[in-house]
Amino acid sequence: MFRNILKWTSIVLGSVIVLLLIAYFAISTNITSRTEKTYSFAKENLSIPTDTATLNRGQHLVAIKGCTDCHGTNLAGKVMMDDAPLGRLVSRNLTKGRGGLPIDYTTTDWVMALRHGVSRSGQPLLFMPSHETTLLSKPDMAAIIAYCQQLPPVNNQLPGNKLGPVVRLMTYLDKMPLLSVEKIDHAKPMVAMADTIEGIAQGKYLTVSCSGCHRPDLKGGDPVAPGFPPLPNITSSGNVGKWTQAQFIQTLRTGKTPGGHQMSNDNMPWKMTAQYDTKELASIYQYVRSIR
Ligand code: HEC
Ligand code: HEC
Repeated sequence: MFRNILKWTSIVLGSVIVLLLIAYFAISTNITSRTEKTYSFAKENLSIPTDTATLNRGQHLVAIKGCTDCHGTNLAGKVMMDDAPLGRLVSRNLTKGRGGLPIDYTTTDWVMALRHGVSRSGQPLLFMPSHETTLLSKPDMAAIIAYCQQLPPVNNQLPGNKLGPVVRLMTYLDKMPLLSVEKIDHAKPMVAMADTIEGIAQGKYLTVSCSGCHRPDLKGGDPVAPGFPPLPNITSSGNVGKWTQAQFIQTLRTGKTPGGHQMSNDNMPWKMTAQYDTKELASIYQYVRSIR
């Protein structure tokens, strides 16, 4: 009797394991083929001004759009994570030093990356948030490119990406923005202009950078990855609805909420939001407060 139970238990367990392995193999194959797919988009040029005002704007955008968080303060790339379950995710060296972008990396190639989420040979850029950069206005995209094109070369040779099982599974379940190329409406033309005066319109344009975590409706939801806190609702129906503009700005500059909770920069990137200027933060406040 007991031996029978043991026998059946091991048969059931064994079958479950085999089924799980088959499912994982299928998922893993699916992700590999999606990351190795070659895309082809029409090449687009953009005129790149190089005056001081444009370069300053580019430097500001590179800070507030998180480029430096992922690509490093000197934009020479870095290993963003490296462990067995997640795998290794590496950002590119954006300078022209050794290990960096090729010498003949043109403006067209830049636009291909920022607008379509693929390298110049059509390979998907992994974990690069091009679904957000694609929504940049033309002048802003040009300013970022102008700034990056004049970076001093930094030699930094980096290893390649290696996707772990957790990243594959989360991508399969659409819980991780690994393949931004799949999230972009590639037919949509570039935004010609964006509001640069304080107000709801500018706030809306800027919150594209918050929507990846706080969700497109900014009403929060489940954590972005296991081990992270849930995303708070940052519209007027959340805590922000009770905060003054000054308290909101203070929170995004220090990471400390009016309630006294000190947020970790690893969860909520307040060192990035701290670099928005006061007018931009005021616009974001006015926009999120306009959402009921
Ligand atoms: C969430 C992290 C993250 C942020 C934020 C980010 N990048 Fe990236 N970026 C990456 C990773 C990772 C890669 C490498 C992708 C690959 O190797 O498949 C990459 C690749 C690139 C490339 C591709 C170069 C090539 O091979 O063609 C460019 C250009 C680039 N990033 C520019 C930017 C700029 C400009 C910003 C800010 C507007 C930015 N990135 C913000 C993670 C990020
Ligand atoms: C990488 C993900 C991420 C991005 C990008 C992000 N946030 Fe957050 N944010 C979080 C997380 C996670 C928390 C909760 C942190 C905690 O509980 O300690 C948070 C908390 C907040 C809070 C506090 C809300 C409360 O009720 O206490 C505000 C306000 C906020 N974020 C605004 C923004 C704005 C505005 C942007 C865009 C400019 C933004 N966040 C971008 C992840 C993010």
